[in-house]
Amino acid sequence: MSRVLVIDDEEKITRILKEAIAPEGYDVKTCSGAEEALPLIEKGDIDIILCDLRLGGMDGLDLLRRSREISPGTDFVMMTAYASTSTAVEAMRLGAYEYLIKPFQIDEVTLLLRRISERRELMIENLALREKISLTGGGRILGDSPAIKTVLDMIGKVAPTATPVLIQGESGTGKELVAIEIHEGSARASKPFIVINCAAVPENLLEAELFGYERGAFTGAVQKKPGQFKLADGGSLFLDEIGELPLPLQAKLLRAIENGEFLPLGGNKPVKVDVRIIAATNRDLEKLSASGGFRQDLFYRLNVFPIRISPLRERKEDILPIAQAFLAGRVASGEISGEISGDIVEMLKGYSWPGNVRELRNVLERAVILSGGGPIEREYIMIPGEEPDTGGNGLSALVGRKSLEEIERSLIELALEKAGGNKSRAAGLLGITRRTLYSRMEKYGLGKGGDQ
Ligand SMILES: Nc1ncnc2c1ncn2[C@@H]1O[C@H](COP(=O)(O)OP(=O)(O)OP(=O)(O)O)[C@@H](O)[C@H]1O
Ligand SMILES: [Mg+2]
Repeated sequence: MSRVLVIDDEEKITRILKEAIAPEGYDVKTCSGAEEALPLIEKGDIDIILCDLRLGGMDGLDLLRRSREISPGTDFVMMTAYASTSTAVEAMRLGAYEYLIKPFQIDEVTLLLRRISERRELMIENLALREKISLTGGGRILGDSPAIKTVLDMIGKVAPTATPVLIQGESGTGKELVAIEIHEGSARASKPFIVINCAAVPENLLEAELFGYERGAFTGAVQKKPGQFKLADGGSLFLDEIGELPLPLQAKLLRAIENGEFLPLGGNKPVKVDVRIIAATNRDLEKLSASGGFRQDLFYRLNVFPIRISPLRERKEDILPIAQAFLAGRVASGEISGEISGDIVEMLKGYSWPGNVRELRNVLERAVILSGGGPIEREYIMIPGEEPDTGGNGLSALVGRKSLEEIERSLIELALEKAGGNKSRAAGLLGITRRTLYSRMEKYGLGKGGDQ
């Protein structure tokens, strides 16, 4: 139920409005002046304000200004009998949601209030959803270990600056997550965060991708195109797998970082940009640069602020909080029941996690699927060494004798058999989605429909 405050120096108006609005299910308060309204707004008790422009003391526009400061979440509707577009425009500019011109029909007011309340509810739902997503691991960096606390501390310190950051850590340790946090903790947060994976873009396209090109710069360049550097202007550019950047491009990148400008391919006019560089790698960049595989000057330029994320096996105390946060969302959605048991925690701690947090999440994801709404059992945690031998040792004997498709077919049959025909479970055993399992089953003519 939205809480509405009606402010008008004419007692008749506040009374009529209250009588009309309250039966619609709003909690309505009334005031005759801005001074009287301020403490209520300040307390955070008001969702929507209906306020007359002309009031005895402080006027409606002044109150609007104050209200935006002390309670930005409160929606403000300005009522005015002195229909001048300039005050209406001014009110909207100051952040009013809408204005009403007196005399108005009561219906207009109730409709407007309904529209505002619906929008407010939607926003609250979105907020709740976002919180849930971050809890399920869609965002925040989790962990209690001193190593993770240091990382968080460093993020907090470096984020507000424009310094380049070099994030190093094994695959799956959360380098991208850290890069996002740095961007979001900076004044650039509302500007673009552009990701470019230096290993994923073919070498001959990387320069055009990074720096853009002019029309006619090469065959096929029919139109001028801005590069990622330009697109990131004002924001941050995340150069993932920077260790894979070819040497000639490393030189160009260094110049761009140092001068804040670069030449697009085929261009002769430098493009100026203000971009914060965040780089990441799972290679040892220092060693690489010592052996000539990476430019030393660029390494030093990036290494001004290094952040190292240790592998999960070196901070096992993070396993439980990460698993708990991940599973809490699944309990809430009814996909599993109950807490994770002590012996499973021990089992998770006993493993070395070469794929780090990503692998942990995948293992848990699989366990959730296998549990089919019940508690997570030990046997659903499938980590190497814990898994019963599924005949994998015979693989080398198969190569050369069987095609990949034949092997895939046999594996699917085996998984279905082990899962007792339960397809969710079989998909979990294979580390694929149910959808993928279905399409493979169809391909190999296995099973006929039947849903589990
Ligand atoms: N400390 C953490 N808390 C919560 N989730 C995490 C944490 N670290 C990593 N993750 C999750 O693990 C997954 C892998 O993380 P991310 O992609 O950031 O790793 P990466 O270091 O960039 O890996 P790669 O080198 O393979 O690109 C993501 O789903 C991420 O959300
Ligand atoms: Mg990554």
